[in-house]
Amino acid sequence: SREIEADLTEVLVTEQQIRDKLAELARQIEADYEGRDILLVGVLKGAVMVMADLARELRPHVTMDWMAVSSYGMGTQSSGVVRILKDLDTDLTGRHVLIVEDIIDSGLTLSWLRGNLESRGAASVEICALLRKPDAAKVEVDVRYLGFDIPNQFVVGYGLDYAERYRNLQDVAILAPHVYS
Ligand code: PRP
Ligand code: MN
Ligand code: MG
Repeated sequence: SREIEADLTEVLVTEQQIRDKLAELARQIEADYEGRDILLVGVLKGAVMVMADLARELRPHVTMDWMAVSSYGMGTQSSGVVRILKDLDTDLTGRHVLIVEDIIDSGLTLSWLRGNLESRGAASVEICALLRKPDAAKVEVDVRYLGFDIPNQFVVGYGLDYAERYRNLQDVAILAPHVYS
């Protein structure tokens, strides 16, 4: 249908809750990284909204770069196979890298990505993720800055997609089962 709302069962995290949480996380990041330059690494495509809003919440200079990795493809299940679709343009040697992600589901994407970026000689690699599904974890990910733990349901919006749709929804919402079953 053309109306996004018809495909949703419930709003899980509102736009306002997201904004407040990112402001809170930004204050922690500013304090933790005082005197150090941060390279924000956004994971395309899901992290674009978090990156855009978090970066603008941060008062010090930051630089941004992007990677595209894919583990989900068009389905709803993580395959566990992580592929680099677009690599960074930045040399990570000596850099303080903060990975920015929309969601930790199985944890496979981020555990792989952290190891990959650490192996490039970064001074530090930390993770900021807006959402995490604790009940879906296949591997534990040490996330330094976390927005919200959410139930193990298929969520969309604020960057999160199902088959590339719903990313432009302002809230994070549960996708109605009729859409994907
Ligand atoms: C989604 C999401 C995370 C990842 C989390 O990305 O944006 O990057 O899956 O899943 P995991 O913890 O089970 O690895 P996806 O692969 O769907 O690509 P997209 O960001 O382009 O939607
Ligand atoms: Mn993603
Ligand atoms: Mg996706």
